[in-house]
Amino acid sequence: SITVDPTAQGATIDKTMYGVFFEDINRAADGGLYAELVQNRSFEYSTDDNRSYTPLTAWTVSGTAQVVDDAGRLNDRNRNYLSLGAGSSVTNAGYNTGIALEDGKKYDFSVWARAEAGTTLTVNLQDAGGTLATAHTIAVRKSGWAQYRATFTATRTSSTGRLTVASSAAAALDMVSLFPRDTYKHEPNGLRKDLAEKVAALKPGFVRFPGGCLVNTGSMQDYSEASGWQRKRSYQWKDTVGPVEQRATNSNFWGYNQSYGLGYYEYFRFAEDIGAMPLPVVPALVTGCGQNKAVADDALLKRHIQDTLDLIEFANGPVTSEWGGKRAEMGHPKPFHLTHIEVGNEENLPNEFFARFTQFREAIQAKYPYMRVISNSGPDDSGATFDTAWKLNKDAKVDLVDEHYYNSPQWFLQNNDRYDSYDRSGPKVFLGEYASQGNAFKNGLAEAAYMTGLERNADVVKLASYAPLFANEDYVQWRPDLVWFNNHASWGSANYEVQKLFMTNVGSRVVPSTATTTPDVSGPITGAVGLSTWNTSAAYDDVKVTAADGSTLLSDDFSGDASKWTHTGAGSWSVQDGQYVETSDTAENTMVQAGDPSWHDYDLHVKATKKSGK
Ligand code: AHR
Repeated sequence: SITVDPTAQGATIDKTMYGVFFEDINRAADGGLYAELVQNRSFEYSTDDNRSYTPLTAWTVSGTAQVVDDAGRLNDRNRNYLSLGAGSSVTNAGYNTGIALEDGKKYDFSVWARAEAGTTLTVNLQDAGGTLATAHTIAVRKSGWAQYRATFTATRTSSTGRLTVASSAAAALDMVSLFPRDTYKHEPNGLRKDLAEKVAALKPGFVRFPGGCLVNTGSMQDYSEASGWQRKRSYQWKDTVGPVEQRATNSNFWGYNQSYGLGYYEYFRFAEDIGAMPLPVVPALVTGCGQNKAVADDALLKRHIQDTLDLIEFANGPVTSEWGGKRAEMGHPKPFHLTHIEVGNEENLPNEFFARFTQFREAIQAKYPYMRVISNSGPDDSGATFDTAWKLNKDAKVDLVDEHYYNSPQWFLQNNDRYDSYDRSGPKVFLGEYASQGNAFKNGLAEAAYMTGLERNADVVKLASYAPLFANEDYVQWRPDLVWFNNHASWGSANYEVQKLFMTNVGSRVVPSTATTTPDVSGPITGAVGLSTWNTSAAYDDVKVTAADGSTLLSDDFSGDASKWTHTGAGSWSVQDGQYVETSDTAENTMVQAGDPSWHDYDLHVKATKKSGK
């Protein structure tokens, strides 16, 4: 029974409480949310990004072609281009199984080309079954770099398409691009519709972007200053705005090249389109995610602080301001209404981080007193670093502190009351990344249970976002994830449904309630009893399933050989001294015994011992 006291005042729940966290991990951007269909469109892939990459990754050449980095380039921040011999062609393989096209839909092709003697380009879309659209010929003038365009209409549906560009005479090519016309909200340089719609369907209150480890790892240098290892750079927003052909690409922390075609303007625009508050994260000049280095370079720190002020001007400034003007040039004269900004992500050096965070916060609030500057508590859910970070944040009366944790379902169930005891007068909590790890359905349930605890404490926990948001099934670096996709389809996980349930039903106030219950495990079972362990080793002494009348349905005290149990998972098992002992260091380990589908109203008794692990 549930007792509700309608007169009691519970916490007020902000409409923005639940949001999403987008990071370009698992190829979430290029080949994912960013709708570009050509992979490595500007020939910038290199071994700096990934040992297996070359500037011609995803391309095959027929005839002669080479990637060149010389003074003949299209622009200084995107240096490579393709030099294609007369009578030669290049074919792009797209992402996953190829380029996905839908019968009857339009696709916009564009390329930057230069041909001293002029040339004719022939552009084709085909798969193993033949042509996918009528080919186009494009006349390239005898002049310097210029952009050429053509529109294809697909005559068949395929998810294994290839794009071929052939040239009759010698030519230089760069930024070879193919976009579906039908992007989310039909925006140019837009987002893949099904993926954007899945996020929009959540009705998120905010979008945290662009990372994560992506933001605060690598070198903090500018593209023009970076050489050698420094070419793996932190996420610096100025790289990601302006015409796409002028944007630098970067070696992503997650091991691939990022085109930055999906950049800050596109993130702001997306947040606006789905009615969510934008919440960007900028690097604090202390690297995280295992790199753990405080950058001691005052001039560089000042430059990053100025970049952050410029970012706020880009989002909110009048069109007459330098950066507000750039926003207007890109097509959005109205401001994006930025009110929250996060400095840093999971820094493991709390003192070094906080010294820098304070300088960012002072500069931001001096110029924009309305901005809420978010700090963080490091990479863990507890411990010495966490405690030091929280103390620093509390003493400095920081507005919001970002916490991150990825734990077992058991942890989430056991820690439902985590925020019940948080100091109501201290900084508020931004739970910027969390997920229960292991079996998806069990995780979803554990997260749902945990979210009731977040909501009960909505006076302290002001913002919460699951992480990560997306995974391309062919490039998975991290799991579980909320939304999965390949080149032509996408699907939400059980966790996605949990987030959707909460996000689309945000109340305005918590009504305090108490519940008493006798656990009811009635109902038919479909024929199996399974015992799982994860990241631990366990021993089972006795397993017994009894019916409501007390009669025994299944019983095993492991005095025999346990051969009636089927074992799945990576660990090993044996019967020792009347116990069923299973071991598993990193994987889920399950033992299953077939039951009887006719069982109703049963009780399960397990006598188990945890041997080691979490
Ligand atoms: O969400 C994946 C990663 O987890 C993020 O990049 C990082 O902040 C955290 O460690």
